[in-house]
Amino acid sequence: MEKKTFYITTPIYYPSDKLHIGHAYCTVATDTIARYKRLCGYDVMFLTGTDEHGQKIEEKAKAAGMTPQQFVDNIVTGEKGILDLWKLMNISNDRFIRTTDPYHVKSIQRIFKKMYDKGDIYKGAYKGMYCTPCESFWTESQLVDGKCPDCGREVHYAEEEAYFFRLSKYAKPVQDLLESGTFLEPASRVNEMINNFIKPGLEDLCVSRTSFSWGIPVDFDPGHVVYVWVDALSNYITALGYLNDEYDDFEKYWPADVHVVGKEIVRFHSIIWPAMLMSLDVPVPKKVYGHGWLVIDGGKMSKSKGNVVDPYVLAEKFGVDALRFFLMRTFPFGSDGNFSNELLINTINIDLANDLGNLVSRTTAMVEKYFGGRLIADRCPDDADSELVEMIKTTKDSYAKHMDEMHPSFALEEVFKLIQRANKYIDETQPWVLAKDEANKARLASVMYNLLEALRVSLVMLSPVMPESCAKALDMIGADDDARSWDNCGRYGVLSETVSVVKGETLFPRLDAEKAIAELEAMNAKAVANDSKPVLPDVTIDEFAKCDMRVVKILECEAVPKSEKLLRFTLDDGSGKPRQILSGIHKFYEPEDLIGKKVAAILNLPSRKMMGLESNGMLLSAVIEKDGKEDLHLMIVSDDTPVGAQLC
Ligand code: MSP
Repeated sequence: MEKKTFYITTPIYYPSDKLHIGHAYCTVATDTIARYKRLCGYDVMFLTGTDEHGQKIEEKAKAAGMTPQQFVDNIVTGEKGILDLWKLMNISNDRFIRTTDPYHVKSIQRIFKKMYDKGDIYKGAYKGMYCTPCESFWTESQLVDGKCPDCGREVHYAEEEAYFFRLSKYAKPVQDLLESGTFLEPASRVNEMINNFIKPGLEDLCVSRTSFSWGIPVDFDPGHVVYVWVDALSNYITALGYLNDEYDDFEKYWPADVHVVGKEIVRFHSIIWPAMLMSLDVPVPKKVYGHGWLVIDGGKMSKSKGNVVDPYVLAEKFGVDALRFFLMRTFPFGSDGNFSNELLINTINIDLANDLGNLVSRTTAMVEKYFGGRLIADRCPDDADSELVEMIKTTKDSYAKHMDEMHPSFALEEVFKLIQRANKYIDETQPWVLAKDEANKARLASVMYNLLEALRVSLVMLSPVMPESCAKALDMIGADDDARSWDNCGRYGVLSETVSVVKGETLFPRLDAEKAIAELEAMNAKAVANDSKPVLPDVTIDEFAKCDMRVVKILECEAVPKSEKLLRFTLDDGSGKPRQILSGIHKFYEPEDLIGKKVAAILNLPSRKMMGLESNGMLLSAVIEKDGKEDLHLMIVSDDTPVGAQLC
């Protein structure tokens, strides 16, 4: 029989910066559901990728001295980039789409043309307030205190000739879809969409730009590039081969079973995306799930606040499975969750080291000690077993219900009730007392077998979250493929009567909380220091040789009146004529600390005026961002370096 299909997606991430733990949270959750569905026997298509166009990327690339393509390549495929991160986090995506992939570009041009030919895209002029970081135009009424309603940042007036999508035409069918029941979840987000966006009246959407060029060109009107959200949302169908020849499983997997997205992009997925699909005469996805955010001290994680949590640091320190487990166990998926290192360490110690780790190590150690690793076939069941045996049979149903409703944390809660019950069962049955009398051997075998069965079903259910550790633990308790199957997860008596058990490594060692936090802080500081900008594209040796960089001696240095930042330097550059350079480093140095020092400077920059004073060159400094702030160190050279010596 053909397997039932299940198509699940993450949002495609902006490669404008390194990804943080919030992005990893979204991808790990989607991976967990994908693995769970595979376990249940579905033919799963799990898609993730990167959203690589737009003005923000163009600007960031320019600031980094790279082409936009070089810039995104570095973040996506470079060392410790997005692909590396998903590999590290054991993400099981079947496909990875980049919106710069040529097949996607071609499809987008066809999608745009198809909507244009239908009359759903028309040419007009856009006037409005624009938020550059969010790449969104807003109407005055949508602004909050005059700022962007999504990110709270400044917006500016912008005007351009543009194409528009007739979003207004689809207001009614989109509202019906939203109100139909299960399309958008959690249900609380439905009212938010209807009250904030549909009721005030859906306006047509500007879907092309002429003010920048890093986007997919509208092929029938050069100069226009396709609005990045039209480009990005379409990834969910182009990656299956819609209007391209790269793939051919659109018929098989579409409509998607669920698009997993963060709460701030629900609007795009539950209003604009279904309207686009309706225009294309393509069925809408079955579900959009808007999850909550990981926040820090109740606030957003951001580079400028210096509180961005690096998933590499955590995975290195605690192991990938422990990190994945923490993310899935701790935070109800639909709501925001407050991330902290303390919470992470506590979860590892309580759930993984104490509850699960102890159950594995005590059970395997006892089977080794009392039976030499292989159970005898004799049994002696008892009433004391009934509650545990019942839970072995029923936990699967409650677990599955929560997983199917996109609540991995509640599903894990059910598994831990079983694990805790099994630990209590050890205390109740006291195997070490039974072991004292040979006459109890059959009873002891029953107790051990029940524990192994409780472990087996628990590990099968935990495997979508912790694939590697669960596979190792299932090896230890002698579970064959059949014993690992989903069908047998809710059955008792699946392990062989004379199962062989081997005690293995400790899967989740207990952590010394204080020590672990101190180490984490040190690792974070190191990661921030190492988080240097990517290396710029090559220059030729001739280009490099054009820069005249020399050792200069600071003869005089004083603060420039009325400037907080500027210092005025008089320098000996070896030419016999004093040189004046202005440098904005007063925040880092006082004049008296610098007089007499030898530093490095570039001398052949065009002369420019600052605060009415001429500056002829630039002092060289090492600059890094630390805790969201700039940290600067002037390139002071040793005193015996001759003035005028050229840097090469
Ligand atoms: N490129 C768009 C998505 C296009 S999908 C067609 C985008 N990219 S993003 O990189 O900014 O965000 C991707 C996802 O990461 C979003 O779902 C967002 O909610 C999620 N997260 C970003 N920070 C997060 C947290 N702190 N916590 C949880 N998820 C977070 O939006």
